[in-house]
Amino acid sequence: MGEKPVINKGLEGIYVAETKLSYIDGENSRLYYVGYSIEDLAKYSTYEEVAFLLYYYRLPTKSEYELFKAVMRESREVPDEVLSIVRNMVRRRAHPMDILRTAVSSLSALDPEIDQRSREADIRKALRILSKAPSIIAAMYRFSRGLDYIEPRNDLDHAANLIYMMHGKKPSEFEAKVLDTIFILHAEHGMNASTFASLVTASTLADIYAAVVSGISALKGPLHGGAAEAAYWQYKEIGSPDNVEAWVKNALDKKRRIMGMGHRVYKSYDPRAKIMKELDREVASKFGGEAAQLYSIATKLEEVALRELSKRGKVTIQPNVDFYTPIAYTALGIPPELFTTIFAASRIVGWTAKVIEYVENNRLIRPLDYYIGELDKKYVPLDQR
Ligand SMILES: CC(C)(COP(=O)(O)OP(=O)(O)OC[C@H]1O[C@@H](n2cnc3c(N)ncnc32)[C@H](O)[C@@H]1OP(=O)(O)O)[C@@H](O)C(=O)NCCC(=O)NCCS
Repeated sequence: MGEKPVINKGLEGIYVAETKLSYIDGENSRLYYVGYSIEDLAKYSTYEEVAFLLYYYRLPTKSEYELFKAVMRESREVPDEVLSIVRNMVRRRAHPMDILRTAVSSLSALDPEIDQRSREADIRKALRILSKAPSIIAAMYRFSRGLDYIEPRNDLDHAANLIYMMHGKKPSEFEAKVLDTIFILHAEHGMNASTFASLVTASTLADIYAAVVSGISALKGPLHGGAAEAAYWQYKEIGSPDNVEAWVKNALDKKRRIMGMGHRVYKSYDPRAKIMKELDREVASKFGGEAAQLYSIATKLEEVALRELSKRGKVTIQPNVDFYTPIAYTALGIPPELFTTIFAASRIVGWTAKVIEYVENNRLIRPLDYYIGELDKKYVPLDQR
């Protein structure tokens, strides 16, 4: 056992890889994908273009972009075998993240290139998973309401098609842009827990489906992917902007966490939250109703929570991306139980791009643990215990 080593609990502060995919400057509220600021990408780009950027480390030319989008569109169909699995799991009231995980896992059985291990083959497989994930989410939405599955539409972009497959109606340009922005904001984010889970799996040279299934599994937990849904229920619990003052004081006195605030890396305002907040202002004024109500509660909550947290010396706890996404999701008719699945569907590009990057210089991820139990214990046979 030797002298007790330093235990890096939670691997905090440990670098495990080099990357050119994303850079988070947590002190200065900055996020970049391949050197491009998240603000520019959210404003000018699309999720499909961001996916290309993350796989190829550059923006596509017009013809590359069209071809890439066409490949994604052609991969949207989900085989009947997988839709049956989704239908059965919905009937059993399984958690949507478990359904997504199982559906992606079952898709591996139907991928003719499952055993091909080249960068290009991995990108092709990743694109298939990426393109089918929204169809799986829409299927969950439809089946859980006793509705029939709607086939994907090949004349719509990635985000617009998801809204269409859920509601059977082509979304407006603004609605499509709102969801596309959410997809862009969640596409990639450094070495977080689910990305690391994907990398651990991929570092054994397991296939890319296995890596994505690991990512989805890790994202399910409330400390990682589940915060937007928790933020939604928090706003519902608060009920009205008038209740915010009392609610915050009571929550902080009871050491409750404000969902959608605080971040392991951002010690200032999460730039994604800023983008979402601006978008939500427009969403609230265009849609009114529940989205506007949630927006007024969230903005008031931000103001009061920042003031009260700062009184308690906690100035680094500020809104993260999950604070403002519930408003946009609600406006788009996306129910809270599906929020995390949309995060997962967006992040598939980040998980797979990082896995593809990592295995090019692969090193099996194999940390150590320090044994603190006893040794040389006497084995007592079962009938003598
Ligand atoms: C994201 C999160 C896990 C990161 O936390 P972390 O870096 O591990 O910070 P810690 O858990 O060490 O918290 C440090 C202090 O800030 C407080 N704190 C952290 N987040 C808080 C929040 N959202 N509301 C109130 N207090 C919070 C903690 O209670 C702790 O206080 P203490 O020192 O008095 O015990 C945490 O901020 C959190 O739970 N946020 C809410 C869930 C959420 O929005 N998650 C989405 C992340 S994208």
